[in-house]
Amino acid sequence: MAHQSEDIIKLDLLDNGISSVYDIKKHFSKDSNVLIFSLPFIGQTKSENVSYEIVKCLSENLQNFGENTLFCFLSSSQVNSDIYIQLHETLTYQLSIAIKLSERIERDGYIPSNYANLLILSKYKSSLKHSKTRIAYTYCPVCDKTTKDYGGKKHLYHSYGTLMSDVWRDITYSHGDYPRDILERLSDLFGLDLYKKLIFFDFSRYKSKNNKGVIRDNQLSFIINNKATDSIINNSQLINGDCLEHLKNIPESTVDFCFADPPYNLSKKYDTWNDNLETEEYFKWCNNWIDELMRVLKPGRYLALLNIPLLSTRYYSHLIKNHTFIDWIVWESLSMPVRMIMPSHYTILIFSKGSPIKLPSLSNNQLTDLELDSIATTKENYCIRNNCINFREKNNYTYKEPISNLWWDIHRIKHNTRRVDHPTQLPPKLMHRLITLFTEKNELVLDPFNGSGTTTLCAEQLNRKFLGIEKSTSYYELSLQRHNELRTGIDPFGKRDNSPKAKNSYVPRVKTQNYVVSKKELQLEIKNIFNKIGHIPTKEEVIELGKYPIKYYKEYFLNWAEVCAAARTTGMQEARVVKSEKNIDSQLKIF
Ligand SMILES: C[S@@+](CC[C@H](N)C(=O)[O-])C[C@H]1O[C@@H](n2cnc3c(N)ncnc32)[C@H](O)[C@@H]1O
Repeated sequence: MAHQSEDIIKLDLLDNGISSVYDIKKHFSKDSNVLIFSLPFIGQTKSENVSYEIVKCLSENLQNFGENTLFCFLSSSQVNSDIYIQLHETLTYQLSIAIKLSERIERDGYIPSNYANLLILSKYKSSLKHSKTRIAYTYCPVCDKTTKDYGGKKHLYHSYGTLMSDVWRDITYSHGDYPRDILERLSDLFGLDLYKKLIFFDFSRYKSKNNKGVIRDNQLSFIINNKATDSIINNSQLINGDCLEHLKNIPESTVDFCFADPPYNLSKKYDTWNDNLETEEYFKWCNNWIDELMRVLKPGRYLALLNIPLLSTRYYSHLIKNHTFIDWIVWESLSMPVRMIMPSHYTILIFSKGSPIKLPSLSNNQLTDLELDSIATTKENYCIRNNCINFREKNNYTYKEPISNLWWDIHRIKHNTRRVDHPTQLPPKLMHRLITLFTEKNELVLDPFNGSGTTTLCAEQLNRKFLGIEKSTSYYELSLQRHNELRTGIDPFGKRDNSPKAKNSYVPRVKTQNYVVSKKELQLEIKNIFNKIGHIPTKEEVIELGKYPIKYYKEYFLNWAEVCAAARTTGMQEARVVKSEKNIDSQLKIF
């Protein structure tokens, strides 16, 4: 098991095996338990769908479950979205976890499906209560160092691994099989006094009344791409204005691919936009521009919507009424979780207008290097250290594979040197991938929230036509300037000298300065004091026991938690700790 939980009393598992809805009623109790329902991956018709029966049973009997009960649904994102839409008024959304499949599910004409979804809802309203659980580091099979490069921050990490994220790739699941590893993990994760038992119901092999059995995934029926319908829009354009106003001027069925990365209504600091609307007002506005995007899209073509999983369920519930659900791509965008369970993935919701066309890139054998690179991914656990990549390239290692719908190889832009003045700039690799997947050369890409221009710049680099709409004049001008740079041969995504002013939300920064003593040295000094006195030192104790002036701590760090970060953990090594030959010898002798 590749995890380690702190201070837990492992929950006992009560396994109902193949279940009927009647089995749920047997577990009505005042105790708070963790209930896990393994479900078919695809919803059948409403009257035959077991998830509807389960949801009905739960919503009619919520009073028969303890106050802290958790309800976990193991299925596809689509089935779990349907479940959440029905339960959102009575239960609290906690997490949507993507768990890698042991085998990808191939889909002709479309990228393979590669994960199951574990939706966790609670009866209580507060944030999820769970144990502190760490996932073990993984090591690159070539250089034997951790998959991620921790640079100069090794002293801030735990020797065992990182805190858990909401994408689990260290354990896998095969649909319909007994989810042993998942149950094992949940019994540790929820091994708190609060919960009594882990109760498992297996509905995964549930057969519908007309006996179709388990349907493993979407069976898409494709239409032939009608290449004769050329775009009416012949020139690429950047537009400064409100997207709803300008979308109205675009003729119906003229765009080959729509992508939207809207404001998430999470109080981000945008230039001209109030990112703090009433929830219903926000979704009403979203439904309007989503309808417009679907109107301008050509039949058979794709819309991709980027958002956090919770908000994506609302988009899903709107789009599913009239359009074809294609995929729920998981983009794991953070390299290191730092909180208890760190939500680290975004959803890229894919719908098509009517029956979809087959993805052009999957059958095109004349892709450019940039296109080929953007739809390949580094295999699980290979590191991204430059010297290791160079070694692999020189020695012809096959460390890349075609992508699936679980993306872990694209990180948000972290270095200020590559950021421009926009608070939510996307990484170009993400847009290169989406544009390559869903369009061909010369086709038209539309982004109604173009921001700093990532989408349109990538479209231009890939020789696609583009239409980018942006409300803020300064972001619009920034995108214009970057397109001009691109046309004069400057890489708009390259390193820059100026440091950007825009931040996602207000984050106090300490001013850049020359350190008399490095921050690492100061943090390790705190660790020494901690080891002497047995608790996190106060400022007074650091003045009394430390060898460096307190003013360094005040000037170099944002807060006391950062000062004490190394004392709270054990520190880690990037190289795999292997037993020396001497040790192995002595082990052999013992056995
Ligand atoms: C999440 S950001 C998009 C960032 C973009 N993907 C990038 O990489 O730079 C959303 C953008 O939508 C813009 N925006 C907000 N409301 C808008 C509207 N009604 N019409 C057009 N743009 C709008 C905001 O100014 C912001 O730049």
